[in-house]
Amino acid sequence: MAKSRVFVTRAIPEQGLAAIRDFCDADIWTDPLPPPREVLLERVRGVDGLLALLTDRIDAGVMDAAGPALKVISNYAVGVDNIDLAEATQRGIPVGNTPDVLTETTADFAFTLLMAAARRVVEGAAFVRAGKWQTWGPTLLLGHDIHGATLGVVGFGRIGRAVARRARGFAMRVLFHDPNAGDDAEARSLGESVDLDTLLRESDFVSLHTPLTDATRHLIDAAALEKMKPTAILINTARGPVVDHDALFRALKDRRIAYAALDVTDPEPISMASPLLELENVIVTPHIASASQATRGKMAQMAAANLIAGLKGDRLPYCANPALYEG
Ligand code: DGY
Repeated sequence: MAKSRVFVTRAIPEQGLAAIRDFCDADIWTDPLPPPREVLLERVRGVDGLLALLTDRIDAGVMDAAGPALKVISNYAVGVDNIDLAEATQRGIPVGNTPDVLTETTADFAFTLLMAAARRVVEGAAFVRAGKWQTWGPTLLLGHDIHGATLGVVGFGRIGRAVARRARGFAMRVLFHDPNAGDDAEARSLGESVDLDTLLRESDFVSLHTPLTDATRHLIDAAALEKMKPTAILINTARGPVVDHDALFRALKDRRIAYAALDVTDPEPISMASPLLELENVIVTPHIASASQATRGKMAQMAAANLIAGLKGDRLPYCANPALYEG
């Protein structure tokens, strides 16, 4: 029997690719950059399955181009904001994602950014390399204490809670805001549920862990930034558009907040002309919060398992539109 045809939009780690090659007739895009839109539309034609990355916009146009054979879309990410989920669901196409395996790795990195911003690690390293270190200085590169400070977590799902657990080790007070979840025993053991305004007003660190939806786009806008303390530090490892970058630039430049550490930007990659990159009180990293060798390997295994299950007509082990299987 002929193998199922699939298009894989980038070379994911071998832990997933090996299974895909075994089971499928796989067309793998091996360029380091994503396939351009017209190439994507061409390469998906007639495929049974698609393995996509968060850099690929998978909308009705792509589903139309693939045609009626398309049985499954597997996303190599936990976030699925790059996929028109409603459209896939309406067409009966299950969409897979990679929850859980990246929770702790992403939380590690959110905390890394928090600490790096608070203690000005990136500035300090640049200072040394630039040959500016002449002596120990009483006021050299003073930062903010982490221990005993208040951490506000926006979005209290798996990753937000993992960040809150780390904060315990630093004796931090944890506030959280999540209108959709969070008022359970575990959440209450980790922090105090508050409205967003209270969180913004009282937190020394605000860490974002909400998915990107219509409700969270520009959740952190000029008005939200205005409510934060002038000493506050904003950390974003969620999705870039949750923050209004123009408003953030003005708030940082005018020192209405102290610092921002962004692993995600809007757009990605950030434009080299972005004024944010001219500021000293900003750290920008290239969307690497889940980028540990072990975690990216596990994500590849999960994405492959989802793809293959969908091709077999089985329920996806990790499905972002489970409503498809109900009723
Ligand atoms: C995700 O999976 O959604 C992350 O942003 C990338 O690992």
